[in-house]
Amino acid sequence: MSAPDELHPGPLDPITATMSPPSKRLYIKTYGCQMNVYDSERMADVLAPLGYAMTQSPEQADLVVLNTCHIREKATEKVYSELGQIRRMKLDQAALGKTMTIAVAGCVAQAEGAEIMRRQPAVDLVVGPQAYHQLPELIARTHRAKGERLAADFAAEDKFDALPTSRNPGGVTAFLTVQEGCDKFCTFCVVPYTRGAEWSRPPEAILAEARSLAEQGVREVTLLGQNVNAYSAEGGLAALVRSLARIEGLDRIRYMTSHPRDMDEALIQAHGEIPELMPFLHLPVQSGSDRILKAMNRAHTAESYLKLIERVRQARPDIAISGDFIVGFPGERESDFEATLDLIRAVGHASAFSFKYSKRPGTPAAALPGQVDEAVKDERLARLNALLDLQQKDFNAAQVGKVLPVLFERAGRHDGQLAGRSPFLQAVHCDGPLDLIGQIVPVRIDGSAKMSLTGTRIGHEDLVNS
Ligand code: SAH
Ligand code: SF4
Ligand code: F3S
Repeated sequence: MSAPDELHPGPLDPITATMSPPSKRLYIKTYGCQMNVYDSERMADVLAPLGYAMTQSPEQADLVVLNTCHIREKATEKVYSELGQIRRMKLDQAALGKTMTIAVAGCVAQAEGAEIMRRQPAVDLVVGPQAYHQLPELIARTHRAKGERLAADFAAEDKFDALPTSRNPGGVTAFLTVQEGCDKFCTFCVVPYTRGAEWSRPPEAILAEARSLAEQGVREVTLLGQNVNAYSAEGGLAALVRSLARIEGLDRIRYMTSHPRDMDEALIQAHGEIPELMPFLHLPVQSGSDRILKAMNRAHTAESYLKLIERVRQARPDIAISGDFIVGFPGERESDFEATLDLIRAVGHASAFSFKYSKRPGTPAAALPGQVDEAVKDERLARLNALLDLQQKDFNAAQVGKVLPVLFERAGRHDGQLAGRSPFLQAVHCDGPLDLIGQIVPVRIDGSAKMSLTGTRIGHEDLVNS
């Protein structure tokens, strides 16, 4: 299993400046969840009019942005070690008479901005996830005078109002943030403190952004939110998906991450009714033990979760289920862990993320008695992953022999090969010409592995989700 904090989407595709010729180089490194990937893209949009163009190499950059994640200790520590390396590059540049500006953005910036400035004086500015639209102003101020530059506001609304309406998508799929923040306060989690209260963007703004993406050739959007199904405008997420499905050219809609508490009937039914809504649901359960779920403040039980999955499967029998799991939450006994394995067996997952509990400063669980030994966590994680890996392999193997509509996204690793996704979010590799990128093509699945499928095209025609 790979954990989101080990997912390095890396530098984004080159963004061409629209208002002035690019004269400065911008390097962005993204850690953490998809919401950070979206934010990094928007930071590049905000900076493009100032003449910043993306570069893949930090050594030469005029501005380096680290967009950080605070979810687990390891994720946070990575930021400090990366900053050490960037500092050396800044010194090398200074020796040549050049100025490199270093900005720290994202959830670590929000949670410990002052600490970052103290621990790494080479950092010029710190900007929280709701304040990055202020980057141009903060950079200008940094260049005028040295001093503490911290922006950690919490009004998502101001940010979205200030962001440019147009985007420059890097491909045929795109992320689209529709909801931010979290009011759930699971006892292990920092997100309510780093991202603030739940807030939903107005549908008109989302539809306008989606239309502009579709006009630029985007065929699949993934709607993002820390609790995306808590989307609270009229009609909830189901109504939003319905409106998006009517946009010409936009043939695939996905959403993540969802909370079981916000999975309403309308959204469940939408899975059976809207062909554009892809049959994939990431619905983290965290644990299969009611005692642990209660201590986590998750507000669902193993049984209520299983019932929910059953209802979703009634609406869309072939839906792929994915989840997040934490092992070694304080007080977790072997019997609690076994209950998690039982729940996993009962659900049958297409994919999942699993994590060792990480003690986060300021969260209630950090102060709980019964913190679990690292060795026990390691052992449980290995058993959990063995089971999840098996389920993922089985899920993939079950597609062999079927014909799936595959959206080709990019060239594959080998010459003449294309890479795309099945409706169930599986990576599919298949031979074909590059002009099929952006098309949804029927592919007969010939082979499967844990992480991907291989197949053969059975037609050239563009096919939509049938
Ligand atoms: N809002 C989503 C998840 C956001 S964080 C939800 O509620 O499902 C992504 C995942 O990181 C969580 O689902 C959880 O499994 C994991 N996570 C969060 N805090 C953690 C911690 N302190 N230690 C280990 N894993 C954690
Ligand atoms: Fe964190 Fe829980 Fe909110 Fe998810 S629902 S972001 S795990 S507090
Ligand atoms: Fe990490 Fe913040 Fe996302 S803590 S997981 S980057 S919301």
